[in-house]
Amino acid sequence: MLTKLKDLEKDAKKSIEEAGSLEDLKETRVRLLGKKGDLTTLLRSLGTAPPEERPVIGKQANILREELEQAIKLKEQALKDAQRAGRWEEERIDVTLPGRPVELGQKHPLTMILDEIKEIFIGLGFQVAHGPDIESDYYNFEALNIPSEHPARDMQDSFYITDQYLLRTHTSPVQIRTMERLAPGLPVRIIAPGKVFRRDDDATHSPMFHQVEGLAVDKDISFADLKGTLLLFVREMFGPEQKIRLRPSFFPFTEPSAEVDISCIMCNGEGCRVCSDTGWLEILGAGMVHPRVLESSGYDPGEVTGFAFGMGVERIAMLKYGIGDLRLFFSNDLRFLKQFG
Ligand code: PHE
Repeated sequence: MLTKLKDLEKDAKKSIEEAGSLEDLKETRVRLLGKKGDLTTLLRSLGTAPPEERPVIGKQANILREELEQAIKLKEQALKDAQRAGRWEEERIDVTLPGRPVELGQKHPLTMILDEIKEIFIGLGFQVAHGPDIESDYYNFEALNIPSEHPARDMQDSFYITDQYLLRTHTSPVQIRTMERLAPGLPVRIIAPGKVFRRDDDATHSPMFHQVEGLAVDKDISFADLKGTLLLFVREMFGPEQKIRLRPSFFPFTEPSAEVDISCIMCNGEGCRVCSDTGWLEILGAGMVHPRVLESSGYDPGEVTGFAFGMGVERIAMLKYGIGDLRLFFSNDLRFLKQFG
């Protein structure tokens, strides 16, 4: 029986050593040490051995059991380590592989123009302010002295959300929000870029477009300050030779009001198709802040004056880049967009 035990030991150690996987090892363990396993079976037959050999065999068998348990444990750990190493090998990143080229995007032409506009006015001491795209009737119209019978209030021209709220039709409400925030602080000097919405859609009008509002309020601000500021802006934007022309106009929130033209950048004022032979191109609306607007936003029109202007960003981009159709800005056609890199 002792020889049997010796054989079992040899066989068992070999099986454990050769187990190729955790699965294998589990089976081996059951075969050797399980309830019907080899060692167990051998011990059960202890009764058939001569009585004087029994204690020796029993002792040896128990030692063997412990040895095998230990060997299985070690093997298990080794198999687990190997498995982990294999997985790591599979997932390892090969740093010698050449990288995939990353295609860099570029700024949208409108963003480029907007950046340029901001930079010019920041250089003049203006700060950038923002207002919500969804405005109340009060900020979009009422506080801007736009009377209820004004056509701009018409459902035909504006996108209403409820009867009190609409998508803002211009950036001028930011004038009011800014003055309310700062009153009676001086000076007020902000530009407010952002989206505006109107029910228009053709080659030169889109239902959403961008404006930049300007507002300056202080003691002794005059129309000449407005004119000088705009001239400087236009020359920075379009070149030092640019002229501007102010035509009398009307806005309910400015008095006096003007529409501002630049000399046609296509023909240099000679007259061409782009400027309809006038030599001039309209680029913005402007004026002196209406006393009623100052008053309703917390400033004393007897103490301070101000100017305001509002320009269309798409319009400026179209002129600067010679683009004929406004819808190109919003069509996301890469052939168009890639020209501005
Ligand atoms: N809000 C006017 C528009 O959208 C532009 C404007 C702004 C005019 C500020 C005067 C002063 O047409």
